[in-house]
Amino acid sequence: MNLLVIGANGAIGKAVIEQLAETFSDARIFAVSRTTPTISDALQNRVVPVKLDSQDETAIIRWLEQCTDDNIRFHHVVCTTGILHDDEVAPEKRLEDITSDALHHYFAVNTVIPALWLKHLVNFFPAEHSSFTVLSARVGSIADNRLGGWYGYRASKAALNMLVKTAAVEYGRIAKHTSLICYHPGTVDSALSEPFQRNVKPEKLFTPAFTATQLVSIIEQRKVDNSPYFVDWDNKAIAW
Ligand SMILES: NC(=O)c1ccc[n+]([C@@H]2O[C@H](COP(=O)([O-])OP(=O)(O)OC[C@H]3O[C@@H](n4cnc5c(N)ncnc54)[C@H](OP(=O)(O)O)[C@@H]3O)[C@@H](O)[C@H]2O)c1
Repeated sequence: MNLLVIGANGAIGKAVIEQLAETFSDARIFAVSRTTPTISDALQNRVVPVKLDSQDETAIIRWLEQCTDDNIRFHHVVCTTGILHDDEVAPEKRLEDITSDALHHYFAVNTVIPALWLKHLVNFFPAEHSSFTVLSARVGSIADNRLGGWYGYRASKAALNMLVKTAAVEYGRIAKHTSLICYHPGTVDSALSEPFQRNVKPEKLFTPAFTATQLVSIIEQRKVDNSPYFVDWDNKAIAW
C-alpha cells in the first residue's frame, strides 16, 4: 500500500506521516515537500522523500509520470499545504487591509496547490476504500462565518472546499471508492497558529500528534457513500 503526504515538512504534515506509518504498518509513504523532508530515523525505510514545488504544475506532472511508470497507486492522500501568515501576508482585520497581492498569495498556496493535486491524482486511486484529504479550516465555512475578518484565509479555504465539492462529482465517476475530505484540525500548536494562540484555552490547543491521530481515524471511517465530507477533528460535520 502507498500513501502520499503533500506538505511533509509542516507541523501537521510531519505528525500525519508518523500516524499513517503507525496505523498502516505495511505502507510506504511518499512525503512531498518544497525542501527535502525531515524523516525520523525510525521511518527511514518506510518514507520516500520527494522534493517538489507544488506551485509548479509541470513538476507535479513529471513526478506522477514516474509513479505511472512504477505502477504506483495511492490508498490515502493528505494535502496539508496552507498559510495564514508569512513574510508576504498577515490576516486582514478590516476591509481596508485587503490587497490584491495578499489575496493572490493566499489562493496560490491554500487553494491552487490542493486543486492541482486533485486534478492530477484522480486516476491514481485503487478500486477499494481510499481517500483524498485536504487540510481546510472551520473559518472557511460560509454558513458559520459570524466574526468576519481574515478575508484571504477564509475565502481561500472556502474556495478550496468548493473545489473539493465540485471535484466529488467527477471523482464519483472516475475514482468510485475514494472519499474526499475537507478536514478542520482544531487549533494546533504550529508556526501557523503561533501568533494567534493567546486567547486559546490550553485544553483547546492541540498537539500535531493529537490532530493527526484524529485525522487518520476519520480517513479509515469515512467511506465514499456520503463523500465529500467537511469535518472537524472530532469527526463532526461542519456546515459548508
Ligand atoms: N495549525 C492550526 O491551528 C490550523 C488550524 C486550521 C487549519 N490548519 C491548516 O492545516 C494545514 C497545516 O498547517 P500547520 O499548522 O501544519 O502549519 P505549518 O507547520 O506552517 O505547515 C504549513 C504547510 O504548508 C506548506 N506551505 C507553506 N507555504 C507554502 C508555499 N509557498 N508553497 C507550498 N507549500 C507551502 C508547507 O509545506 P512544505 O512541507 O513544503 O514546507 C507546510 O507543509 C494548513 O493548510 C492550515 O491552513 C491549521
